[in-house]
Amino acid sequence: MKIAVLGAAGGIGQPLSLLLKNQLPKGSELSLYDVAPSTPGVAVDLSHIPTDVSVIGYTGDEGLVKAVSGASVVVIPAGMARKPGMDRSDLFKFNANIVKGLVEVVAKHAPKACIAIITNPVNTMVPLAAEVLKKAGCYDSKRLFGVTMLDTLRAETFWGDATKTDRCTAKVPVIGGHSGTTILPLFSQAAGYEAISAEEIEKLTVHVQNAGTEVVEAKGSGSATLSMAAAGARFALAIVRGLNGEENVVEPAYVESKTGYAPFFAQPLVLGTEGVKEYLPIGKLSAYEQKALEGMLDTLKKDIQQGVDFVNNN
Ligand code: LMR
Repeated sequence: MKIAVLGAAGGIGQPLSLLLKNQLPKGSELSLYDVAPSTPGVAVDLSHIPTDVSVIGYTGDEGLVKAVSGASVVVIPAGMARKPGMDRSDLFKFNANIVKGLVEVVAKHAPKACIAIITNPVNTMVPLAAEVLKKAGCYDSKRLFGVTMLDTLRAETFWGDATKTDRCTAKVPVIGGHSGTTILPLFSQAAGYEAISAEEIEKLTVHVQNAGTEVVEAKGSGSATLSMAAAGARFALAIVRGLNGEENVVEPAYVESKTGYAPFFAQPLVLGTEGVKEYLPIGKLSAYEQKALEGMLDTLKKDIQQGVDFVNNN
């Protein structure tokens, strides 16, 4: 199976490619693309790691075509990252054309690929990509994902710490989107919920919602790269496992929604041989979570509409 990473020489792309080189199934082909001329060199660097995953790096327009042609999975971390004082939505003007251009090429040369978008603002980039794919006549809502996995990793880490249990086994569904209040961890569905006070739940919720900003402020010059690479790799590997026919591969992502809350919505999914196999219900919410869900919808719908309008008005 061929897996392409677009934006592979960047802050997320390099550690993501490293994780994929180490963890993809034997015989996989890892294809790296970036505008940075060093991309073939990044591939040479990775190629010295003794795993049974081949890796080739490309740059330039023709390189992009080669990178995506025949890919089953395309992961997109390309684009600009936030700096302190910026919101994810401030990246739209920088990243919209980048994602549009990349998805146009994927539509032409890998029209059946599962596409996982990491580039921010994810809430807007996924609907934007959907419109590009619709125009190209190859949109399949079961194969287009926004990566919200990092919100889940954060919620599970913070929950493990709060409940003094193993972070590695904590399970916390996160629904909605991938920005501010649109990120909604459902702690009421996590083991140990009864022992945690309402005030603590609220603090933990806000911590998950602001965790990306926490990293941006701590770094001073960019956003999460390493934890995002871990999240992107876990999600890309889950897609691969599903495509390979593994049963019960369950992970969350931001997809065209069947929930009725907004046209795109992050929820738990079963991944299979065609991309999404099943949309899992979001389950029972606490009164606090229900209010937070209702409160996010206007923002989420506006974010989505911005992506749709960008393609249709350009
Ligand atoms: C994150 O959640 O860390 C990423 O979306 C990057 C950012 O700008 O916050």
